[in-house]
Amino acid sequence: MTHEPGRKVKIAATGFYAPEKILTNADLEKMVDTTDEWIVSRTGIKERRIASESQATSDLCLEAARRALRNGNYHVKDIDLIIVATSTPDTIFPSTACWLQHGLQADHVAAFDISAGCTGFLYGLIMAESLILGGTSRRILLVGAELLTKITNWKDRSTCVLFGDAAGACVLEESKDASGILSHYWKADGSLAGLLYQPAGGSRMPASEKTIAEDLHYLQMKGNEVFKHAVKKMGEAALEALKRAGLKKEDIDWFIPHQANTRIIGATGERLKIPAEKVYVNIQRYGNVSVASIPISLHELYEAGKLNGGSIILMDAFGAGFTWGAVVYRW
Ligand code: ACO
Repeated sequence: MTHEPGRKVKIAATGFYAPEKILTNADLEKMVDTTDEWIVSRTGIKERRIASESQATSDLCLEAARRALRNGNYHVKDIDLIIVATSTPDTIFPSTACWLQHGLQADHVAAFDISAGCTGFLYGLIMAESLILGGTSRRILLVGAELLTKITNWKDRSTCVLFGDAAGACVLEESKDASGILSHYWKADGSLAGLLYQPAGGSRMPASEKTIAEDLHYLQMKGNEVFKHAVKKMGEAALEALKRAGLKKEDIDWFIPHQANTRIIGATGERLKIPAEKVYVNIQRYGNVSVASIPISLHELYEAGKLNGGSIILMDAFGAGFTWGAVVYRW
């Protein structure tokens, strides 16, 4: 859907947090049968951040949220809802958003999680837009956070080189000018769930000695099949969202794709015919941080002074579910 001109929801502040500890490709060479050359050429990743043993996802959220609030000069009392997008919650229940609410001492707000894989931040933006335009909320704290290294099988070289930990946060409110969300597109296909999932630990396969012995509580991915779907679906989402915004590819100032793999990013950019200099890439520093990758990219672009009033941004993601979606945004 495209919203009528004059009523838009904008990102009023951003912040992010990535744990201090860095795991390089050279470190991984000592852990599994891999090489820096393989990882860089197949994925673009050079290093990733790893949370400490004591950190939970909500701890990452808390730091990112405090920074976003501070950057926008907001007090915690200024928000009225917390949404956390994550696939690696602190606990299956209560939600990570509730753990975060407690950490922020935001006892006046409602709080809940959404689970949409790497597309979760975009799903969150779309949901927040409706809640604000519909009058349910005035100002929402949306956090995308992932602590994937705690569900990573460090013996599986095909996945353990890919992921990292981080959180990105933003404050959303109704825009008073032309900035804000211009259009969006979101979709899902649960028939492909088994290509990327965490088999055990939920009601389908409760944790047991057997599931632990068989490593079924770790993330599993059929990488090359996911790859093909990711390129196709991210292309579809981007084109559809642009069409809904009434814009052309040439209108885009920044393309922010989910940072899963530089080859997916490159293939999607080429498919959309977006020049490489307009494609934001930071996967070399963080690895695949799933739902956190787009809010971190937004924050970095803003902090670097690369977003001007009026910049058109296309955000595009694909992830577990499968889910995929895109948001066109005017800064
Ligand atoms: N080091 C060295 N060799 C490796 C490694 C490694 N770390 N991992 C796999 N290999 C080997 C394989 O064993 C295989 O060897 P073989 O030919 O002797 O059998 C060979 O490399 C090729 O393996 P593929 O899996 O076919 O490699 P591919 O080129 O597909 O790259 C990768 C793998 C990087 C995972 C890629 O498929 C990918 O990025 N997929 C998409 C992932 C994705 O998009 N996720 C996004 C959504 S999900 C999310 O973000 C949480």
